[in-house]
Amino acid sequence: MSKLEFIRKEEKKYHDYCYENYKLFEEGSWLYKPVKTVIDLLPILIGKPSPKVLDLGSGVGRNSIPVAQEIKNKKGKVVCVDLLDSALDKLKFYSKEYEVEEVIETIKADIGQYDITKNEYDLIVAVSTLEHVESEDVFENVIRKMALGTKDEGINCIIVNSDVEEIDISTNGKLDTMMEVNIKTEAMLIKLRKIYEAWEIVNQLVKPLEYRIVRDERDVLLKTNAITFVVRKK
Ligand SMILES: C[S@@+](CC[C@H](N)C(=O)[O-])C[C@H]1O[C@@H](n2cnc3c(N)ncnc32)[C@H](O)[C@@H]1O
Repeated sequence: MSKLEFIRKEEKKYHDYCYENYKLFEEGSWLYKPVKTVIDLLPILIGKPSPKVLDLGSGVGRNSIPVAQEIKNKKGKVVCVDLLDSALDKLKFYSKEYEVEEVIETIKADIGQYDITKNEYDLIVAVSTLEHVESEDVFENVIRKMALGTKDEGINCIIVNSDVEEIDISTNGKLDTMMEVNIKTEAMLIKLRKIYEAWEIVNQLVKPLEYRIVRDERDVLLKTNAITFVVRKK
């Protein structure tokens, strides 16, 4: 099995478990609340007729459901792309529960291969998903497609892990990082600023985070610099 196949298998196992065992907007997991950076962007959709939003790696709708609720009465649409059936099945279920089924469109695809319609979206969101495309080239390519898919004055909201380290807690030894794309923080920021050179930076933030996770029955400390990068097309 290649490293990519192994990472994808582990990612699927982890997400299938989360989506089956934790309920959206209930305490106890990261599904508890939408990402504040995304929610803070909602006022930009208010003045738009039929706002169109793309959520790449949408999961079960932690962000896309509140967005859909906001634009429901404006004939808006949120297109949600994810690789996993477990994510999309639960997203459809929650869309009914939160009465936004007519707003949410689900697409099963690898975002690395997904063609984004040009000049189509007012807002494109990619939260904790771009680091899971198959290579750095694909990563750049997806971001370029996001940029082209955005209407004038539209927003791209990216939250992406960088400089990820995994440390075996019992030995304090560094482990091979199980992340498809793992770029140094400064290099990632340079890449993003270059691609979005002509855009206005609305929000740029680097947050060092640490999580305890379990890998192959080993307690592992995962360290990351989470980058928030929000830009507006001029
Ligand atoms: C950490 S979750 C975040 C979900 C959602 N963005 C949120 O903030 O709640 C990452 C999601 O991205 C999806 N994903 C990972 N790699 C992907 C890929 N290459 N193409 C499409 N979806 C992918 C996973 O299935 C998972 O649902």
